[in-house]
Amino acid sequence: MSSTTTIAPASPLSSRIQAMHESATIAMAKKCRELIAKGFDVINLSFGEPDFQTPQYIKDAAKEALDKGFTFYTPVPGIPELRQAICDKFKRDNQLDFQPNQIVVSTGAKQALANAVLSLVNPGDEVIVFSPYWVSYEEMVKLAEGTSVPLVGTLENDYKVTAAQLEAAITERTKLIMYSSPCNPTGSVFSRQELSEIAAVMARHPQVFALADEIYEYINFVGEHVSLAQFPEVKDRVITVNGFSKGYAMTGWRLGYLAARQDIAAACEKMQSQITSGTCSIAQHAGLAALRGGRASADEMVEAYRRRRDLVLDIVKDIPGLKTPTPSGAFYVFPDVSAFLGRTAPDGSIISTSMDLALYLLNDGLVSAVSGEAFGAPECMRFSTAAADDKLVEAFRRVKASLAKL
Ligand SMILES: Cc1ncc(COP(=O)(O)O)c(C=O)c1O
Repeated sequence: MSSTTTIAPASPLSSRIQAMHESATIAMAKKCRELIAKGFDVINLSFGEPDFQTPQYIKDAAKEALDKGFTFYTPVPGIPELRQAICDKFKRDNQLDFQPNQIVVSTGAKQALANAVLSLVNPGDEVIVFSPYWVSYEEMVKLAEGTSVPLVGTLENDYKVTAAQLEAAITERTKLIMYSSPCNPTGSVFSRQELSEIAAVMARHPQVFALADEIYEYINFVGEHVSLAQFPEVKDRVITVNGFSKGYAMTGWRLGYLAARQDIAAACEKMQSQITSGTCSIAQHAGLAALRGGRASADEMVEAYRRRRDLVLDIVKDIPGLKTPTPSGAFYVFPDVSAFLGRTAPDGSIISTSMDLALYLLNDGLVSAVSGEAFGAPECMRFSTAAADDKLVEAFRRVKASLAKL
């Protein structure tokens, strides 16, 4: 009998999906759930999710929408009343004028971002991603076959990229810049002056567009939220993304939107029409009620986020080795943990990376955080502060104790 050699079949998966990383926040949350399922008392600070319930008036609107029979497909870019309410919101909160045909409602801000990247970026185009950045930006650019160019803000400047850095990074292949303000993961907020300088740089480079992710707009401790689209010289080249997940505690409803020049909005609508169609009809009616209710419910939550931020900063400042800037918005702290890299854990293993440190804190301290690598900042680690006060106090007590063993 002749022996045959079996050759493992090549993976049937596309190179596109093989090149893509799993979302690090979702991966960490998965590990955390596994430990919880085994009975460990893990405190999960890896999620970017408000711990508040969606306000009751929004839930009531969803129930009413069901009872009224809004169970059919909606127009791809959203129901007309919601698109109008989003225009009204932009006028009220941001002094921005948009027409409903410039608004595309999507399955979360995430889809709005993906629609915009896929509609604007050609293979080989450069996308300047302000770093530290939200985990999905780079992968979206990869999916569009663009080249992402991380531009790193410094700790001294609260991790904010400056206009001078941007000017130096722009090339003739630059198509887009992407950033979030308030920023996930750093909590930094661009001031009017800083954004006006960024707008001035863009004005000198007419081929450059900007994707301004304002999903944390309402979770702002410094007061003024500035939209890049407020600068008339660049308004037509700014795609403003926002949504309901953070400000209205509606993560599970999957509702977000963008506002852009009409041809770009139409392109995003076309992209969405072929992939998902209009988002959930019930969620859209809930979102309509949310916007009509203004931002009072968000303001209440912001007070809790501010209290928790202060509580955490108070503990963290007593942990030697952590360098933690004060976040101006969002619900994270993002300490520089580099002092702990290279140290030896009690089991003799070396903590070489922020990922090693995150796994160590999970196993030793039963606290789940996300390593900075995923955000383009391998010297940092992100802890969510969207948890009850007593949980936060206990979590950082554990972090302090585990770090002291290194
Ligand atoms: C900066 C940033 N942009 C967008 C999103 C996505 O939001 P949504 O839940 O609306 O898809 C998130 C969620 O974590 C985020 O942190």
